Amino acid sequence: MQHLGTDLARAASVLRSGGLVGMPTETVYGLAANALDVVAVARIFSAKNRPHFDPLIVHLSDWTEVDRVAQAIPAEAQLLWNQLGPAPLTYVLPKRPEVPDLVTSGLDHVAVRIPQLILARQLLATAGVPVAAPSANPFGFVSPTTAQHVADQLGDQVDYILDGGACGVGVESTIVAWPEGRAVVLRLGGIPVETLTEILGYEPEIRTSTSKPSAPGMLDAHYAPGKPVRLMAHGTDWSQVTVPQGIQALAFAANDWVASLTTHGDCTEGAQRLFAALREYAATDYRELWIELAPEVGLGRAINDRLRRAAHRAED
Ligand code: TXA
Ligand code: MG
Repeated sequence: MQHLGTDLARAASVLRSGGLVGMPTETVYGLAANALDVVAVARIFSAKNRPHFDPLIVHLSDWTEVDRVAQAIPAEAQLLWNQLGPAPLTYVLPKRPEVPDLVTSGLDHVAVRIPQLILARQLLATAGVPVAAPSANPFGFVSPTTAQHVADQLGDQVDYILDGGACGVGVESTIVAWPEGRAVVLRLGGIPVETLTEILGYEPEIRTSTSKPSAPGMLDAHYAPGKPVRLMAHGTDWSQVTVPQGIQALAFAANDWVASLTTHGDCTEGAQRLFAALREYAATDYRELWIELAPEVGLGRAINDRLRRAAHRAED
């Protein structure tokens, strides 16, 4: 039977029976399993080849479910939820004992996210269980933004892939935690830091460059297309750049000289297209990609974070 399609009831029943589902969200596709079923969660780690020190995000259909997995919710988390509702934002909250240690890698906090994509929330509501889901890519590789990407990379390791079309946001959720009372951003993502600042009334500290893998989306050589990526400054004058044979050049906005990630330099479009562009480059014969950074504001910061990691090569 075809294992990629739009059958929501089937996807929900796979989740309930301990299987793995390719789950669409507004950010990237997730590799989903029942978060309270340790055997199912273990399958996520082996399908992704993911180290066990890297904890998973638990997805819920609504904030009313949050008490199932978390407790002692910080007032600022509640405030963010009240203002934003379902959004590309993940909250790190004190965990309830019911959440298996495998999900949180033994941490006493659990990452919780209520996705904005309605199809995702319908799936979660129908399954009726909290769902652990990392991005549906092999560990360290580019995250999938279409159902086909999931099929290409994880294929028969997934029991069913629910096709929700291309992801509207295209970069992963922003992760916010309250380690010492005030909000700290652990990963730049779909909700701009500026939005959090506006709601919280102060600018949260951004703590993404630690080498401690408390959020391995922070590991330096992540999102790797497997070939060299060279970063070009935002605002590069491409008319002055000589691009040698064998090198793919990608400007941020459309211009007369080289291809571009976006048409008008809009970061929303840039984020949507980013991972597909890295994937396309990986599939070509080009030996190197010269790609222009986004402006360092709003979603542009999440784009640049991913590009810097893609450009960082593990010592070999
Ligand atoms: O947009 C997203 O967040 C996507 C979709 C599928 O929801 N998910 C995603 O999951 O990006 P993943 O596993 O690729 O990245 C989750 C990040 C990891 O860097 C992990 O370390 C961090 O969240 N994380 C999970 N639980 C945590 C916790 N308890 N404390 C700190 N960081 C945590
Ligand atoms: Mg990931």
